[in-house]
Amino acid sequence: MTDALHFDSVTKSYETEAGVVEVLRGISVALGAGEAMAVTGPSGSGKSTLLHLAATLEAPTSGSIRIAGQAAHDLPERELAAFRSRSVGLVFQDHYLLPQYTMLQNVLLPTVAAGGGGDGGEERARSLLQAVGLGTRIDHRPAQLSGGERQRAAIVRALINRPSLLLCDEPTGNLDAETATSVADLLLDLHAEGDSALIVVTHSLELAARLPRQVELRGGLLSEAPPRQAAGG
Ligand SMILES: Nc1ncnc2c1ncn2[C@@H]1O[C@H](COP(=O)(O)OP(=O)(O)OP(=O)(O)O)[C@@H](O)[C@H]1O
Ligand SMILES: [Mg+2]
Repeated sequence: MTDALHFDSVTKSYETEAGVVEVLRGISVALGAGEAMAVTGPSGSGKSTLLHLAATLEAPTSGSIRIAGQAAHDLPERELAAFRSRSVGLVFQDHYLLPQYTMLQNVLLPTVAAGGGGDGGEERARSLLQAVGLGTRIDHRPAQLSGGERQRAAIVRALINRPSLLLCDEPTGNLDAETATSVADLLLDLHAEGDSALIVVTHSLELAARLPRQVELRGGLLSEAPPRQAAGG
């Protein structure tokens, strides 16, 4: 089966007035369809950079990246934007919901960007919002919701197009411990029900431990924790 994500010897450097910043120095990793992985590492180690590359928002300096088998970075910009909307869902630490739109409209935005819409998208949006406990909030705007409610809506929005890859950057970073746990529960439940592969960047070792694979970024390189033994083994 085609991997949801494949990084082969990926490097990323930024040229600044102060010189070249080498962030990623050769990352190779594959994530199978529907698999899930946590990425940890110190601040500044390149976790968000890695997600931006996987999201096709930035191009690697060298190496190759395939998303659902597609060398997406080779696509012309217009096609790349459509590919991204269809294939990648993104959840950031700050939810980035648009304040002028209702929850339903926010959640449906990616279907418009993907050139879809009209194919049961609204029904799916309503039922997902219902499923994450926002059934009574469908016509509310972000400012009328709590942080945890907004983050749940952001997760629904990221999943609306059934992406092959769901990327979350500190999805629980701004939430109190109890809300963080319930948002993490929701994210893992939705992942288990769908076909999206999942990457969660987090400083929370507790959240990382809930995912079946854990990798750590340090010094521009990725290391993977050995597979866990079954409980009691
Ligand atoms: N556009 C840019 N130009 C120059 N340097 C950059 C740019 N974007 C990121 N960096 C540098 O790349 C490094 C990695 O940044 P990144 O945001 O990926 O870290 P991170 O692991 O997500 O950190 P945090 O845990 O604090 O969110 C940092 O040292 C940052 O300063
Ligand atoms: Mg970051």
